[in-house]
Amino acid sequence: MKSLTISQSKVQSFDLAGFCSTQPHYLQTRTRINRLIDRYISPEILTEHLQDLPTQFTTPHQRPWQPIKWDAISKDQIIGIDPELFLSVLASSVEVESPIREYSTESWHYFKAAHPQMAYFMGGIRDENDKIIEISEWEKEERQHAPVFSKIYEKLTGIKLQPKPNSVKDNQFTENPIYEVYNHVLSRIGTEWSAVSIYLWLMVHSTGELQQAIAQPCKDEINHLAKFWGFASWAFQDSYMTRIRHISKQMLALFNHHRQERTQSNEIIGNYSLLPAIELAFTFTRILVRLHSWNRQLNIGKLDSLFA
Ligand SMILES: [Fe+2]
Ligand SMILES: [Fe+2]
Repeated sequence: MKSLTISQSKVQSFDLAGFCSTQPHYLQTRTRINRLIDRYISPEILTEHLQDLPTQFTTPHQRPWQPIKWDAISKDQIIGIDPELFLSVLASSVEVESPIREYSTESWHYFKAAHPQMAYFMGGIRDENDKIIEISEWEKEERQHAPVFSKIYEKLTGIKLQPKPNSVKDNQFTENPIYEVYNHVLSRIGTEWSAVSIYLWLMVHSTGELQQAIAQPCKDEINHLAKFWGFASWAFQDSYMTRIRHISKQMLALFNHHRQERTQSNEIIGNYSLLPAIELAFTFTRILVRLHSWNRQLNIGKLDSLFA
């Protein structure tokens, strides 16, 4: 009887990531990461998201969200992590998510000649001066993310964020435009992959309505990741290793760019223990492993039937 009381007081509950202890140790956190990956990034789910892409070209539609119960979000739903670190990751997510209009314009430029349907999905319809006439589905989904993270931040702290949006580099087309498009898709895959990894990690360290709220943008990013990944496999037929090498190079360059831009915020993160960094690295890697096994199912016949 006594031991039952003790174990019950330690256990908080079960949530989207499975067993949720109030003081999880590293192995429990890893189990939660794996649980979320199995739940949201199964090969079947990825395939479903990819199969949805050609239908987006003809009948665009947004992925529906579950409503968020804002009043049920509270700071005690942050689990097994210094709340300050959790909040600083939330705040940087708001920054990375904007300026979405510039991102969609950039993608539209890259795709308009190479693949007009993809230009439509990512950049919408534009007039002769590139001004937007119809907003793309990708932008409609993405533009919800920064406000949601910002509102979560405000719910948890009572403070309104003043984000400094990311800088978007100008398009520089060289003599090899297809290679430029390839680079661009890989950079989009890289940002979707890192968004999925970071939001999934935030879900691992949250429970209740806070976790449910973060699940909404996280599921959008998984959807985008699957679509861009599968599309790139059809369009470029590169190997998994070539792709990962390229993306890693791009992400390293981006990381250095941001480090120079925001030395101050990195100093804050640098003050925390190594464990969150290890957990994040584990999350990034596990998602890559999952993509690798899904990638093997993407034979050219199947992809041709979707996009050719
Ligand atoms: Fe996003
Ligand atoms: Fe996304």
